Amino acid sequence: MQDNSTSEKKITIAIDGYSSSGKSTMARRLASRIGYRYIDSGAMYRAVTLYALNNGIMDADGTIRLDELTAALPHIHIDFRPDADGTQHTMLNGMDVESEIRRMRVSDAVSPIAAVPAVRHALTAMQKAFGTEKGIVMDGRDIGTTVFPDAELKIFVNAPAQTRAQRRFKELIEKGVSVNFEDVLANVVHRDHIDETREESPLRRADDAVNLDNSSMSLDEQDAWLLDLFNRTLSNL
Ligand code: DC
Repeated sequence: MQDNSTSEKKITIAIDGYSSSGKSTMARRLASRIGYRYIDSGAMYRAVTLYALNNGIMDADGTIRLDELTAALPHIHIDFRPDADGTQHTMLNGMDVESEIRRMRVSDAVSPIAAVPAVRHALTAMQKAFGTEKGIVMDGRDIGTTVFPDAELKIFVNAPAQTRAQRRFKELIEKGVSVNFEDVLANVVHRDHIDETREESPLRRADDAVNLDNSSMSLDEQDAWLLDLFNRTLSNL
């Protein structure tokens, strides 16, 4: 296989799909392989949710104080910092919140926050700014449709909800988070529903995205498939 990964030509790569479809893992691994910047847009929605929960803008029962949330947005600064082994850490107003934003408390609250138009507008602007120089792999729900509609390579990832919940459950257990499988599955199904039915930028496949069902693929197979697609995209420019 021809390897164009060190090519001078830089492109934008948008990877969208359902929650826990493995898109973050594939996006991160591709970015590291080809020397691109990786941005996890879901982490940005999670960081806003954490801010809302910690600042009394969202109650535990899910009530969101919309005016307060909108007023707070200019004061919410999100960035990513790699640690020594290259793992990206999400920074919220200078604090490393990487583990906190992965907890169920945030997972349970994030979809309604991600459905708020003012939040989407603010985060979309930040995401576009990350991508001005290209050489970026961004994953999320609306990257190929709204954030980078002109991305040279778009992928839409899916797998059955049961498979995705299994992956998420394993990931949480490995991180030492105590959860039960039924709760994780319910959270995945619930988030799919909110993501697909919200008015603003709902989750949907861009017309020019390549579909991937990775249920029966190993990580290595997935990496090889993606690298091949990347190289073919560069060759066709
Ligand atoms: O990918 P994730 O599970 O970390 O995403 C967290 C939430 O953010 C999920 O409910 C969908 C939402 N999201 C979104 O609406 N748009 C994006 N571009 C990325 C995530």
